[in-house]
Order: sequence, then C-alpha cells, then structure tokens
Amino acid sequence: MKSTPNKFYEPTQNQLGYMTTQIDQVGYSFLDFAQQRPQPILEIGAAYGHVALEAAKRQIPIIVNDLDQRHLDALVKRADEKHLKYILPLLGNFPKDLVFKPNSLGSILICRVLHFFPPEEWIQAMHVMFEWLAPGGKLFMTNESPYFGTMRKFIPVYLERKRKGHPWPGLMIGMEYFDEGRKQDVNSVINLLSLKETKAAVEEAGFHIEYIEYLDRSSIYPPDALYDGREAIGVIARKKSIL
Ligand SMILES: C[S@@+](CC[C@H](N)C(=O)[O-])C[C@H]1O[C@@H](n2cnc3c(N)ncnc32)[C@H](O)[C@@H]1O
Repeated sequence: MKSTPNKFYEPTQNQLGYMTTQIDQVGYSFLDFAQQRPQPILEIGAAYGHVALEAAKRQIPIIVNDLDQRHLDALVKRADEKHLKYILPLLGNFPKDLVFKPNSLGSILICRVLHFFPPEEWIQAMHVMFEWLAPGGKLFMTNESPYFGTMRKFIPVYLERKRKGHPWPGLMIGMEYFDEGRKQDVNSVINLLSLKETKAAVEEAGFHIEYIEYLDRSSIYPPDALYDGREAIGVIARKKSIL
C-alpha cells in the first residue's frame, strides 16, 4: 500500500516515486522562461502537475504529459475551471509514444523522471528532447543524484564502481539498496548520474549547458531523503540558435 501524502511528497499511483509538493528553482526558471516564448511548452512526467498548474495560473498554455491516466485526471480535477483551457493533457510513455515536430517546442521540463531510465534510454531521451526543441529553446531538468538519501546504502557500492571505472556506476536493477520505508512507493530501474556524468550526457546530445548544480533538497524533500546537500542535480540547457 502506498504511503499517504505529506508536506513534501505525494506518492504516485504507479510506484514511480513521489511528486514534490513545492516548486524548486528549476521549476520557477522554466515558468519564467516559458512566459517569454511564443512556442508550445511541454512538461514530461508531471504526475499531478504542481508546476503545470502554476503555468496555467500564469495563463501559459502547457502540454502536460504523464504515462499514468490517473495522474492526469487528478491534475485536471485540481485545476481551477478558468485555467483549464491552458492545460493540454497528453497521456503516453516518453519518448516512444510522443510525437512532436522537430524544432517545435519553446521549452521542456522533465523533473525526477530520467533517473528511472536505463542508460540507452537516458541517452535517447536527451537526443529526442534536443530534436523537439526550437533553436534557442531550453531544457529544464532535475534528477536524483548518487547522493540521494533514500539510496544511502547504495553510495559505497556506487563509489567502488566508480573507482573501478564502471560505465554507469549509478545503475541499480532491483530494490536491494532502497530505503525499506519507501519501497512501497517505488519499483523501477534506478539510474543515478553524478554532475560530471549528467553534464557529459547533456552535452553529447548537442545542448549548451547554462546551469548545472547539485541541489540541496532541505526544503523540498523529507528528512529521510536528505544526505549532504547533493541529493539532486538541476540542469538548464539551451539548444543553440542557428545564426
Ligand atoms: C518521481 S515522479 C515526478 C513528478 C514530478 N515531475 C516531480 O518532479 O515532482 C515521476 C513521474 O513521471 C512519470 N513517468 C515516469 N516515466 C515516464 C515516462 N517514460 N513517460 C511519461 N511519464 C513518466 C510517472 O508516472 C510519475 O508521475
């Protein structure tokens, strides 16, 4: 049975973790940037859409994707009726079910989704998002890092793999190292990239990185998910304009 919502987290319906209840600096940067651009914007893996609902409040039309219809239904229910016209729900498994024209999106937000992607799919996802973004468009992304408190038992394994030159040291198949108290809410491959590994994968897809940082999640995650101020990684990356 999944846990009950609290001040920090709302469990997903499909054992893919939690939606955070508060918007972080990457989410606010996405909203501020979206306000300045004419092209459509997309949030991937929005869950119940805390950022998308704020976009709609600001009267910014937003395509809101998730692979679980229950999340999108809840999101629509939570929206104020006068904001519904700004919300365009899009059910589907990113990237394989989603179709956008190349160079068509102004910005993409993908928060706390890619750490569920195995290596080849992580790389493929970056390339697909790069293709969909218009020149000058931006990707806004967060993922859990290898220093995520919920996976603290995994940290020595990660560091040892890193020392030995493992190509994807943060890849965990099976829930062996996951916090016992959180296992009811997550059942997935988990792939945690460090800042250096994230930077390399984002740049390899063609992006220019404007911002990348470990994020201290003290005010965003519950205490058991904290570690040392490097719990997650935030990225803002631009598809260069063709000039
Ligand atoms: C950990 S929650 C994150 C929710 C929200 N983005 C946040 O940062 O709080 C992950 C969400 O991504 C969705 N998701 C995971 N993989 C997906 C995929 N391949 N395509 C679309 N949605 C996906 C899940 O259904 C879930 O709602």
